Amino acid sequence: MARRRQIYEGKAKILYEGPEPGTIIQYFKDDATAFNAEKKGQIAGKGVLNNRISEKIFTSLHTIGVPTHFIRRLNMREQLVRQVEIVPIEVVVRNVAAGSMTKRLGIEEGTQLPRTVIEYYYKDDKLGDPMVTEEHIACFGWASQEEMNDIADMAIRVNDYMCGLFAGIGIRLVDFKLEFGRIWENDYSRIILADEISPDSCRLWDIASNRKLDKDRFRQDLGEIAEAYQEVARRLGLLQPEGEESAVLDFDSAKKKREAKD
Ligand code: TMP
Repeated sequence: MARRRQIYEGKAKILYEGPEPGTIIQYFKDDATAFNAEKKGQIAGKGVLNNRISEKIFTSLHTIGVPTHFIRRLNMREQLVRQVEIVPIEVVVRNVAAGSMTKRLGIEEGTQLPRTVIEYYYKDDKLGDPMVTEEHIACFGWASQEEMNDIADMAIRVNDYMCGLFAGIGIRLVDFKLEFGRIWENDYSRIILADEISPDSCRLWDIASNRKLDKDRFRQDLGEIAEAYQEVARRLGLLQPEGEESAVLDFDSAKKKREAKD
Protein backbone atom coordinates (compact mmCIF):
# COMPACT_ATOMS: atom_id res chain seq x y z
CA MET A 1 0.00 0.00 0.00
CA ALA A 2 1.40 3.43 -0.91
CA ARG A 3 2.25 5.58 2.06
CA ARG A 4 0.19 8.77 2.12
CA ARG A 5 1.93 11.99 1.32
CA GLN A 6 2.75 14.43 4.12
CA ILE A 7 1.99 17.98 3.06
CA TYR A 8 3.11 19.94 6.11
CA GLU A 9 4.21 19.42 9.70
CA GLY A 10 3.32 22.19 12.13
CA LYS A 11 3.95 22.52 15.86
CA ALA A 12 0.85 20.63 16.96
CA LYS A 13 -0.47 18.99 13.79
CA ILE A 14 0.60 17.15 10.66
CA LEU A 15 -1.28 17.55 7.39
CA TYR A 16 -1.51 14.64 4.94
CA GLU A 17 -2.98 14.48 1.47
CA GLY A 18 -6.65 13.41 1.75
CA PRO A 19 -8.41 10.58 -0.09
CA GLU A 20 -10.05 12.89 -2.65
CA PRO A 21 -8.77 16.02 -4.37
CA GLY A 22 -9.44 19.09 -2.27
CA THR A 23 -9.30 17.18 1.01
CA ILE A 24 -6.64 17.01 3.72
CA ILE A 25 -6.16 14.81 6.78
CA GLN A 26 -5.30 16.73 9.98
CA TYR A 27 -3.36 14.61 12.47
CA PHE A 28 -3.27 15.98 16.04
CA LYS A 29 0.05 15.48 17.87
CA ASP A 30 0.71 15.51 21.61
CA ASP A 31 3.51 18.06 21.04
CA ALA A 32 3.11 21.42 22.70
CA THR A 33 5.14 24.56 22.13
CA ALA A 34 5.01 28.06 23.55
CA PHE A 35 6.74 31.40 23.01
CA ASN A 36 7.33 30.73 19.32
CA ALA A 37 8.60 27.21 20.02
CA GLU A 38 11.27 28.36 22.53
CA LYS A 39 9.53 26.07 25.01
CA LYS A 40 8.78 22.54 23.86
CA GLY A 41 7.07 19.59 25.50
CA GLN A 42 4.44 16.91 25.21
CA ILE A 43 1.04 16.66 26.82
CA ALA A 44 -0.02 13.00 26.98
CA GLY A 45 -3.26 12.44 25.10
CA LYS A 46 -3.59 16.08 24.00
CA GLY A 47 -3.93 15.18 20.32
CA VAL A 48 -6.81 12.78 21.00
CA LEU A 49 -8.62 15.35 23.14
CA ASN A 50 -8.07 18.30 20.80
CA ASN A 51 -9.31 16.21 17.86
CA ARG A 52 -12.57 15.54 19.75
CA ILE A 53 -12.95 19.05 21.20
CA SER A 54 -12.31 20.72 17.85
CA GLU A 55 -14.75 18.33 16.12
CA LYS A 56 -17.44 19.20 18.66
CA ILE A 57 -16.96 22.96 18.28
CA PHE A 58 -16.69 22.95 14.48
CA THR A 59 -19.79 20.75 14.03
CA SER A 60 -21.72 23.00 16.46
CA LEU A 61 -20.61 26.09 14.52
CA HIS A 62 -21.80 24.42 11.33
CA THR A 63 -25.30 24.14 12.80
CA ILE A 64 -25.42 27.93 13.32
CA GLY A 65 -24.32 28.54 9.75
CA VAL A 66 -20.59 29.29 10.16
CA PRO A 67 -18.85 27.61 7.19
CA THR A 68 -15.84 25.52 8.26
CA HIS A 69 -13.26 23.21 6.70
CA PHE A 70 -14.36 20.28 8.90
CA ILE A 71 -15.77 17.24 7.06
CA ARG A 72 -15.61 14.37 9.58
CA ARG A 73 -13.44 12.80 12.24
CA LEU A 74 -11.63 9.72 10.91
CA ASN A 75 -10.18 8.21 14.07
CA MET A 76 -8.70 9.10 17.46
CA ARG A 77 -6.16 11.58 16.13
CA GLU A 78 -7.28 12.44 12.62
CA GLN A 79 -9.99 14.41 10.92
CA LEU A 80 -10.82 14.93 7.26
CA VAL A 81 -11.02 18.59 6.29
CA ARG A 82 -11.35 20.65 3.11
CA GLN A 83 -8.12 21.89 1.64
CA VAL A 84 -7.95 25.68 1.88
CA GLU A 85 -5.54 28.44 1.01
CA ILE A 86 -4.74 29.68 4.51
CA VAL A 87 -5.10 33.45 5.04
CA PRO A 88 -1.80 34.34 6.74
CA ILE A 89 -3.52 36.10 9.64
CA GLU A 90 -4.17 34.83 13.17
CA VAL A 91 -7.40 36.34 14.42
CA VAL A 92 -7.50 36.75 18.21
CA VAL A 93 -10.78 37.53 19.95
CA ARG A 94 -10.64 38.76 23.56
CA ASN A 95 -13.38 39.09 26.17
CA VAL A 96 -11.17 39.29 29.27
CA ALA A 97 -7.62 40.69 29.55
CA ALA A 98 -4.94 37.97 29.63
CA GLY A 99 -1.69 36.95 27.95
CA SER A 100 -0.03 39.39 25.59
CA MET A 101 -2.71 42.05 26.13
CA THR A 102 -1.86 42.31 29.83
CA LYS A 103 1.84 42.64 28.99
CA ARG A 104 1.43 45.08 26.11
CA LEU A 105 -1.06 47.40 27.78
CA GLY A 106 -0.39 46.82 31.49
CA ILE A 107 -3.95 45.71 32.16
CA GLU A 108 -4.48 43.33 35.05
CA GLU A 109 -5.15 39.71 34.06
CA GLY A 110 -8.82 38.87 34.52
CA THR A 111 -10.15 42.38 33.80
CA GLN A 112 -13.46 42.05 31.94
CA LEU A 113 -13.14 44.11 28.75
CA PRO A 114 -15.95 46.67 28.23
CA ARG A 115 -16.28 45.34 24.68
CA THR A 116 -14.92 42.43 22.70
CA VAL A 117 -11.59 43.18 21.03
CA ILE A 118 -10.39 41.61 17.77
CA GLU A 119 -6.68 41.62 16.98
CA TYR A 120 -4.77 40.45 13.93
CA TYR A 121 -1.32 38.86 13.86
CA TYR A 122 0.70 38.16 10.72
CA LYS A 123 1.51 34.42 10.55
CA ASP A 124 5.28 34.32 10.27
CA ASP A 125 7.29 32.28 12.78
CA LYS A 126 10.54 33.98 11.77
CA LEU A 127 9.06 37.33 12.78
CA GLY A 128 7.32 35.88 15.87
CA ASP A 129 3.80 36.50 14.47
CA PRO A 130 3.75 40.32 14.84
CA MET A 131 0.51 42.15 15.55
CA VAL A 132 -0.74 44.03 12.49
CA THR A 133 -3.61 46.34 11.66
CA GLU A 134 -6.16 46.10 8.84
CA GLU A 135 -4.06 48.75 7.10
CA HIS A 136 -1.11 46.33 6.88
CA ILE A 137 -3.40 43.51 5.73
CA ALA A 138 -4.78 45.69 2.92
CA CYS A 139 -1.39 47.21 2.07
CA PHE A 140 0.33 43.85 1.61
CA GLY A 141 -2.72 42.13 0.07
CA TRP A 142 -2.94 39.33 2.69
CA ALA A 143 -6.74 39.53 2.45
CA SER A 144 -9.21 41.76 0.61
CA GLN A 145 -11.51 44.22 2.36
CA GLU A 146 -14.47 41.97 1.58
CA GLU A 147 -12.66 38.97 3.05
CA MET A 148 -11.77 40.95 6.18
CA ASN A 149 -15.45 41.90 6.62
CA ASP A 150 -16.41 38.21 6.42
CA ILE A 151 -13.60 37.25 8.81
CA ALA A 152 -14.59 39.85 11.42
CA ASP A 153 -18.30 38.92 11.15
CA MET A 154 -17.50 35.22 11.58
CA ALA A 155 -15.12 35.88 14.47
CA ILE A 156 -17.88 37.73 16.35
CA ARG A 157 -20.43 35.00 15.63
CA VAL A 158 -17.99 32.30 16.78
CA ASN A 159 -17.32 34.30 19.94
CA ASP A 160 -21.03 34.76 20.73
CA TYR A 161 -21.71 31.08 20.20
CA MET A 162 -18.68 29.82 22.10
CA CYS A 163 -19.23 32.17 25.07
CA GLY A 164 -22.66 30.56 25.49
CA LEU A 165 -21.43 27.02 24.90
CA PHE A 166 -18.71 27.33 27.52
CA ALA A 167 -20.80 29.36 30.02
CA GLY A 168 -23.26 26.45 29.95
CA ILE A 169 -20.53 24.14 31.27
CA GLY A 170 -19.14 26.56 33.85
CA ILE A 171 -16.26 27.89 31.74
CA ARG A 172 -15.36 31.51 30.97
CA LEU A 173 -14.13 32.04 27.40
CA VAL A 174 -11.33 34.55 28.06
CA ASP A 175 -9.87 34.71 24.54
CA PHE A 176 -9.10 32.52 21.53
CA LYS A 177 -7.37 32.42 18.17
CA LEU A 178 -8.96 31.57 14.82
CA GLU A 179 -7.54 30.90 11.38
CA PHE A 180 -9.42 31.22 8.13
CA GLY A 181 -8.90 29.82 4.63
CA ARG A 182 -10.03 30.49 1.09
CA ILE A 183 -11.77 27.88 -1.01
CA TRP A 184 -12.13 28.32 -4.72
CA GLU A 185 -15.30 27.47 -6.64
CA ASN A 186 -14.83 28.18 -10.36
CA ASP A 187 -13.47 31.74 -10.47
CA TYR A 188 -14.80 32.73 -7.07
CA SER A 189 -13.33 32.27 -3.64
CA ARG A 190 -14.97 32.39 -0.24
CA ILE A 191 -13.70 32.37 3.31
CA ILE A 192 -14.29 29.47 5.71
CA LEU A 193 -13.08 28.76 9.25
CA ALA A 194 -10.03 26.46 9.31
CA ASP A 195 -7.36 25.02 11.66
CA GLU A 196 -8.68 23.97 15.10
CA ILE A 197 -10.43 25.29 18.20
CA SER A 198 -9.18 23.62 21.37
CA PRO A 199 -7.56 24.39 24.74
CA ASP A 200 -4.36 24.97 22.71
CA SER A 201 -5.93 27.97 21.00
CA CYS A 202 -8.33 29.26 23.69
CA ARG A 203 -8.04 30.55 27.24
CA LEU A 204 -10.69 28.79 29.30
CA TRP A 205 -11.19 29.52 33.00
CA ASP A 206 -13.46 27.68 35.40
CA ILE A 207 -16.14 30.25 36.28
CA ALA A 208 -16.36 29.27 39.95
CA SER A 209 -12.63 29.05 40.78
CA ASN A 210 -10.86 30.89 37.90
CA ARG A 211 -8.75 27.72 37.47
CA LYS A 212 -7.05 27.71 34.06
CA LEU A 213 -8.18 24.85 31.84
CA ASP A 214 -6.00 25.51 28.79
CA LYS A 215 -2.48 25.71 27.39
CA ASP A 216 -1.50 28.44 29.88
CA ARG A 217 -0.97 25.52 32.31
CA PHE A 218 1.88 24.44 29.98
CA ARG A 219 3.11 27.98 29.19
CA GLN A 220 3.25 28.91 32.89
CA ASP A 221 4.32 25.50 34.29
CA LEU A 222 1.16 25.19 36.37
CA GLY A 223 1.05 21.36 36.25
CA GLU A 224 -1.97 19.07 35.72
CA ILE A 225 -2.00 20.02 32.05
CA ALA A 226 -3.52 16.84 30.58
CA GLU A 227 -6.08 16.84 33.40
CA ALA A 228 -7.21 20.35 32.41
CA TYR A 229 -7.74 19.29 28.76
CA GLN A 230 -9.62 16.19 29.99
CA GLU A 231 -11.80 18.39 32.18
CA VAL A 232 -12.82 20.52 29.18
CA ALA A 233 -13.57 17.39 27.12
CA ARG A 234 -15.53 15.86 30.00
CA ARG A 235 -17.67 18.97 30.47
CA LEU A 236 -18.35 19.05 26.74
CA GLY A 237 -19.72 15.50 27.13
CA LEU A 238 -16.88 13.90 25.17
CA LEU A 239 -15.48 11.67 27.92
CA GLN A 240 -16.95 9.26 30.40
CA PRO A 241 -17.47 10.60 33.94
CA GLU A 242 -14.36 11.07 36.09
CA GLY A 243 -12.08 8.05 36.25
CA GLU A 244 -13.27 6.41 33.06
CA GLU A 245 -11.58 8.76 30.60
CA SER A 246 -8.38 6.74 30.71
CA ALA A 247 -10.15 4.10 28.60
CA VAL A 248 -10.03 6.48 25.64
CA LEU A 249 -6.36 7.26 26.10
CA ASP A 250 -5.47 3.62 26.80
CA PHE A 251 -7.15 2.69 23.55
CA ASP A 252 -4.96 5.24 21.79
CA SER A 253 -1.72 3.99 23.33
CA ALA A 254 -2.71 0.38 22.61
CA LYS A 255 -3.22 1.33 18.96
CA LYS A 256 0.18 3.04 18.89
CA LYS A 257 1.84 -0.10 20.29
CA ARG A 258 0.11 -2.22 17.63
CA GLU A 259 1.27 0.16 14.91
CA ALA A 260 4.84 0.16 16.25
CA LYS A 261 4.87 -3.66 16.04
CA ASP A 262 3.56 -3.70 12.42
P1 TMP B 1 -1.85 35.94 23.46
O1 TMP B 1 -2.48 36.57 24.66
O2 TMP B 1 -0.58 35.23 23.75
O3 TMP B 1 -1.71 36.94 22.33
O4 TMP B 1 -2.86 34.82 22.94
C1 TMP B 1 -4.20 35.11 22.62
C2 TMP B 1 -4.97 33.82 22.34
O5 TMP B 1 -4.47 33.20 21.16
C3 TMP B 1 -4.85 32.76 23.43
O6 TMP B 1 -6.12 32.14 23.58
C4 TMP B 1 -3.87 31.77 22.92
C5 TMP B 1 -4.01 31.87 21.42
N1 TMP B 1 -2.74 31.70 20.73
C6 TMP B 1 -2.60 30.69 19.81
O7 TMP B 1 -3.52 29.90 19.58
N2 TMP B 1 -1.42 30.56 19.15
C7 TMP B 1 -0.37 31.41 19.36
O8 TMP B 1 0.69 31.24 18.72
C8 TMP B 1 -0.53 32.46 20.31
C9 TMP B 1 0.59 33.41 20.59
C10 TMP B 1 -1.74 32.57 20.96
